[in-house]
Amino acid sequence: MPPGRQLTSLLQAGDVHAALASFYNHTPPAVSHLNDIVAVSGKGTHVFTAGGDSYLDMTSGIGVVSTGHCHVRVVHAVQAQAAKLVHAQQNIFGAHEAGISLIDRLLQIMPSASRPENVINKFFFTNSGSEAIDNAIKVARGHTGKPNIIAFEGGFHGRTYGAMACTSSKTIYRQGFGPVMPGVFIAPYPACLHCKASSDQEYPLPPDTQHTMVKPRSCCNGPLEAVEWMLKMQTAPQETAGIIVEPILGEGGIITPPPGFLLGLRKLCDKHGMLLILDEVRVILLRHLLLHQLCHFYACWISRLGGMQVWAHTLMTTDLHHQSKR
Ligand SMILES: Cc1ncc(COP(=O)(O)O)c(C=O)c1O
Repeated sequence: MPPGRQLTSLLQAGDVHAALASFYNHTPPAVSHLNDIVAVSGKGTHVFTAGGDSYLDMTSGIGVVSTGHCHVRVVHAVQAQAAKLVHAQQNIFGAHEAGISLIDRLLQIMPSASRPENVINKFFFTNSGSEAIDNAIKVARGHTGKPNIIAFEGGFHGRTYGAMACTSSKTIYRQGFGPVMPGVFIAPYPACLHCKASSDQEYPLPPDTQHTMVKPRSCCNGPLEAVEWMLKMQTAPQETAGIIVEPILGEGGIITPPPGFLLGLRKLCDKHGMLLILDEVRVILLRHLLLHQLCHFYACWISRLGGMQVWAHTLMTTDLHHQSKR
C-alpha cells in the first residue's frame, strides 16, 4: 500500500482507532481533542461518523458553522463560486466580483453612527481571527504611533504571536513559546459574579449616551479603575495605542461585563487618544446585541461570520484604514 493511503484505507476499513492513532502520530500534539469522534459529514445540528453514528454538535464549530452544518444556501454559494473563480490575488487584480458584492452587503448591515467619521466602512479580509487581531494591533500602533496594548485577564485572542501576547485564558498558549511580543499589559476583566464588593455605584457613561439597553446596575467600578491605574503605573497613555477586549469573555468563562464597562473603556480611549479594539471573533458580528449599543465606537470590529469557512476581517472607520497590513 502506498504510504500516503494508509490512514484513509484504515478509516474505510472501519478501523477508526488505528486511523485516529496514525492521524495523531502525524499531527502536532499541540492541538488538543475533546473526543475521539471522526467526523465524516454534517447536516444542520448533527455530525455523522463513518459507522453511521450521529452526534448533536452543540459547539457550532465555535461559531464557524453558526448556520448549521452544510446549510443548503452556503453549500450552493461555495459550489457556484468554486466553479467560477477560486482565487484572484489581491495585489495582481484590482478587485474581484465576489469581493465587490461582499462589501456591498457588509455596508448594508453596518450600524449607523452618530457622526459620519464613526461609520464603520473599511473592511480588511483575513484568513483567521488571529490574523484579524494581529492586523488590529498593527492598525492601532501604526495609527497612534504608540507601542503598548492593554488586554484583559482570561482573554483569548488567538495563537499567532501578536494575538498570543494578548491571550491569558490559559498558560498553555504561551508555555514554551516565549518571549512573547512585548508591550502588552493585562488588566482584570470584570467578573461581577465573583466580585466581593458591594456598592451602588455605576459606571459613569459618556454624556451623549442615549442607549436604552444600558440599564443601571450596581457595580464596584473596580475593573475600570484598574485600567486607569494601569495607565498611571504601568503603561502611560502617551505610550498606549489601544485596549483590546472581548465584549463577552469567551474561553475565559463566558462572562458578560456590567453595563457601562465597555462604554467606560471607550471614554477612556477617547480621553487618551487610544483605540478600542473589540474582538467579536467568538460572539460573532451582528449576533451580539452590544453591536447596537456600541455602534458609535471609533474602533475596530473583528469577527468571524459563520456559515462554512473560517473567515475573518477587521472592520474600521475611515481614517484607520491606511495602517492596515501591507
Ligand atoms: C475571541 C477570539 N478571538 C480570536 C480567536 C482566534 O481565531 P482563529 O482561531 O480563527 O485564529 C478566537 C478563536 O476561537 C476567539 O475565540
